This record gives sequence, C-alpha cells and structure tokens, in this order.
Amino acid sequence: MEQRNILVLGAGGQLGTELVRELRAVHGPGRVIASDIREKPEMSEGGPFEQLDILNQKGLGDLFNRQKISQVYLLAALLSASGELRPGEAWDLNMRGLLQVLELARQHHCQVFWPSSIAVFGHSAPRISCPNEAVQEPSTVYGISKSAGELWCRYYFERYGVDVRSVRYPGLISYEAVPGGGTTDYAVEIFEAAVSGRHYPCYLRADTRLPMMYMPDAIRAALEIMAAPAARLSVRTSYNVAAVSFTPRLIAASIQRHIPELSWESVPDYRQKIAESWPGSIDDSLARHDWNWKPRYGIKEITDDMIAHVTPEKSQQMMEKI
Ligand SMILES: NC(=O)c1ccc[n+]([C@@H]2O[C@H](COP(=O)([O-])OP(=O)(O)OC[C@H]3O[C@@H](n4cnc5c(N)ncnc54)[C@H](O)[C@@H]3O)[C@@H](O)[C@H]2O)c1
Repeated sequence: MEQRNILVLGAGGQLGTELVRELRAVHGPGRVIASDIREKPEMSEGGPFEQLDILNQKGLGDLFNRQKISQVYLLAALLSASGELRPGEAWDLNMRGLLQVLELARQHHCQVFWPSSIAVFGHSAPRISCPNEAVQEPSTVYGISKSAGELWCRYYFERYGVDVRSVRYPGLISYEAVPGGGTTDYAVEIFEAAVSGRHYPCYLRADTRLPMMYMPDAIRAALEIMAAPAARLSVRTSYNVAAVSFTPRLIAASIQRHIPELSWESVPDYRQKIAESWPGSIDDSLARHDWNWKPRYGIKEITDDMIAHVTPEKSQQMMEKI
C-alpha cells in the first residue's frame, strides 16, 4: 500500500518542536514533514523540513500536491497575549490559515488535528469545572478566532466529511522550546528564573488560577484523539482536556521545595485581564468518556521534571532565542 506522509504546520513552536519528535519516533523520520515560516536547522536535521508561510496559498497548495499527505497537524497561530497586541494579524493567521488547510484537507482527503484553547470561554462561562458545552463569549481576538475555528471544523466535518479533530488545550508547560506569547507563559518563565537565580516579576496576580498541562500529556492527547475510532467521537468542535489547575503562588511554592531561594513578585500587566476572563479549571469528562483521555502529570510531577531538565545553560539559550 502507498505510504502517505504527515505534515506539521507551525512545527517550530512550543508544541510543534516536541510533537514532531514524537511523530518521527512513531512513524519514522522520513514520513513526518515539519514546516514553519521560520528556518529551524534542528528540525531539518531530524527529517524533511519545508520553510513556508501558511498564508501563501499557492505555496501551501503546491506542498499538498508534491507530498502525499494523510494527516495534517495545524499548529501555526498567534497566541492570546501576542494576539491582543496584533489583533488583525492574529485573526488573519488563525482564521485564513485554518480555512486554507481545511479546504486542502477536503481536496486531498486528509485527517486534520487543530488545537483550540480554553480561551474560547469568557466571563459568562463557569469559573470552576467549566463544561465542554459552556457558553462561549471570548473577550480576546485569539479566543474569538478559536471559537469561530471550532465551528468551521464541525462545518467541514458535517458538510464535506473532513475528519478534523480538536482539543481545547489549557496553558502548556515545557522546557524544549520558548513559549510563543500566551497568557500562561509565566508557568515556564518562573522555572527558568528559579534555576538561573534571577528574580521573577510575574505578570499575573499571585492568586490567579488557570488550567495547565505538561507537554508530554499534551502530545499524548493529540496522538490519542487522532488514533481514536471515529465512531467514538461525539464532539466535532473541540474537546476540553484538563490536567492540573494552579496559581502563581502554588507553582512558586512547589518550585521552592527544590529551590527555596526562588525570589518572585507579582507585577500584573495587560495579561491579568485576559487570565481573569478564562475559567480557573475545566471539566474534561466528555474526552475521558469518548476516547479515554486521562492526564498523567500533576503539579508535583511537573515541577520535579521541569527542575530536572531546565538547567541554567538551557534557560540562557532559551532567553537568547526570544
Ligand atoms: N502553548 C499553549 O499554551 C497553547 C495553549 C492552547 C492552545 N495552543 C495552540 O496550540 C498551537 C501551537 O501553539 P504553540 O504554543 O506551539 O505556539 P508557538 O507560538 O510556540 O508556535 C507557533 C509556530 O507557528 C509558526 N508560524 C507563525 N506564523 C506562521 C505562518 N504564517 N506560517 C507558518 N508558520 C507560522 C511560528 O513560527 C511558530 O513556530 C496553536 O494553535 C495554539 O493556539 C497552545
């Protein structure tokens, strides 16, 4: 049988860096094409890499024509905090990028993974254990684009049969790549400050509770929903997936078990308002029921693993890349 390839768009970011590595480990390096607008030497070393702006419609179409693609992971997006600074750009990239990929997936019969976010919820959704089908009144351009994107995914599934699958990620914590401008980036930055002995001015208030997830859980969620039997999926907009929920004060205390000298303070900026519009925790019982989703990392496990991997040298390299 003809072998078809897997394409990851926006592969050079926080999620893509680790997702590409895992996909290449599972399917073989030659079958996973990493693509990003930015040149990423470490990506081309491990397998095929295509430098491409997903808004370049012709370039994207040519890529689908040249390569035989069976699955697309669309990760290129402008995140919540960056999106508030550049709203027009965020809408254009997040919406037009998605529509172009859905259309190509329809023409080439590809399965699609497209991550949504807890940012689809706004003030009118429940703050605690926010359910999958809670009302969506997002207050950021990022949240609006994700909310509309979810409906486009369901539209392409219902109207054209495109097998598009999606999860609403909470804030993602990882140590391989610099986070890309989200409101939850503090939960990575505070580790970097702790291991390198720097004082950390946290841009959120100490008691701001947000849902979070460690990267290995996030990668597993993507692979598991893509492998789930289609008949088990009752949701074609997006599934809530939860892992932990904590505040800056709680994660700082968890780090101080390893590094008691961690010095930090709360200096809220515009991101406080974004965080306050989101739920503090989400209910993922539908994902647990439909495709057996279950997180593995709690706050202690995340802290122990981050402390073991974020070294002062790595922290410095990451800061230099920003
Ligand atoms: N990181 C999180 O906490 C989080 C939480 C919820 C949802 N998500 C979603 O997961 C996905 C990946 O997020 P991430 O954290 O890896 O983001 P990121 O910002 O770290 O990475 C995005 C990548 O897309 C690339 N890109 C930007 N514009 C592009 C374009 N025009 N063409 C091609 N590539 C382009 C960037 O160079 C970057 O490498 C996004 O859809 C995001 O909304 C992330």
